[in-house]
Amino acid sequence: MIISASTDYRAAAQRRLPPFLFHYIDGGAYAEHTLKRNVADLADIALRQRVLRDMSELNLGTELFGEQLALPVALAPVGLTGMYARRGEVQAARAAAAKGIPFTLSTVSVCPIEEVAPAIDRPMWFQLYVLKDRGFMKNALERAKAAGVTTLVFTVDMPVPGARYRDAHSGMSGPNAAMRRYLQAVTHPRWALDVGLLGKPHDLGNISTYRGNPTGLEDYIGWLGNNFDPSISWKDLQWIRDFWDGPMVIKGILDPDDARDAVKFGADGIVVSNHGGRQLDGVLSSARALPAIADAVKGELKILVDSGIRTGLDVVRMLALGADAVMLGRAFVYALAADGEAGVSNLLELIEKEMRVAMTLTGAKSIAEISRDSLVRELGA
Ligand SMILES: Cc1cc2nc3c(=O)[nH]c(=O)nc-3n(C[C@H](O)[C@H](O)[C@H](O)COP(=O)(O)O)c2cc1C
Repeated sequence: MIISASTDYRAAAQRRLPPFLFHYIDGGAYAEHTLKRNVADLADIALRQRVLRDMSELNLGTELFGEQLALPVALAPVGLTGMYARRGEVQAARAAAAKGIPFTLSTVSVCPIEEVAPAIDRPMWFQLYVLKDRGFMKNALERAKAAGVTTLVFTVDMPVPGARYRDAHSGMSGPNAAMRRYLQAVTHPRWALDVGLLGKPHDLGNISTYRGNPTGLEDYIGWLGNNFDPSISWKDLQWIRDFWDGPMVIKGILDPDDARDAVKFGADGIVVSNHGGRQLDGVLSSARALPAIADAVKGELKILVDSGIRTGLDVVRMLALGADAVMLGRAFVYALAADGEAGVSNLLELIEKEMRVAMTLTGAKSIAEISRDSLVRELGA
């Protein structure tokens, strides 16, 4: 039974998914210190309880890049989402749209832009990586525009992929990986039927549409591995700007100096993020990095944040530390893996309820009223 958004969906996802997929989602880079701190540092932030202030009317809505959001929450881009539930990107996007919040499609999604965008009745966001193949990037931007994508989320913290040792242990990579994945799939029959059999094709939809020849996932993972571009710099973003006239959000900022550069560049927003602890282990948690970044650039662009957010209380904590909105990564993926679209819808309901309790008992009637004043103590930057 699902009672707690933060723990029950994770346990349900672990029961349902073959281990190579569960650990791909759940794991982080190297010794996973940053992954753990993302959650622990947030939990350590104490909210300031206030009472007797007539909190009968709360407004959880906000505006972001000209869009109205029912909650200050968006779903983060997560690669291979269509492997965790049947056509998973479509299911998650539907749950987000029904709730009135944005869904962000990853570059490396299973379902292509053209499958997800028409399935929902609100504009989708699209995430792009910097890849050596600029032809692919240009093609993806043109297709995103044609599909009515509003906001481009440009991820800059993956010039090289961070090593995730759990993947080698779990069978995602490493010796005999294909055989181990097959054995895990057949011993998880609900997933094998729902996704393995009925969720095909299993490829990276955006890339196969560009290349015009669908092949296996292994081939694409190889293509991506060779295609991350360590030469990326601010001038490459100018190249993107020339192709994209809508709102542009830079994802993967963890330092105030980089946040100031994002303002200079003219970005509409940033996502303060360490990629959920999946890139450089040992960097600051997002909760620790956020206050100094907010001091540097608050008001000059929109500040989104992710990494470690599991509950509605965490959302309120991040807003109190200076964010305008948050992105959910693993939190929605666990719910999707456990129970598809219904799981994500229920998760968003739980997050809203938790936010309502936190706002009522911190005396914040609207998103704008959540501030550092809502905290007893915040972690230093
Ligand atoms: C399985 C998985 C795949 C991800 N794939 C992408 C991706 O394709 N593009 C991207 O910008 N971020 C990707 N991320 C990072 C998320 O967008 C987000 O930054 C991260 O999940 C936030 O941390 P949290 O999971 O602790 O909330 C991925 C994260 C996970 C867990």
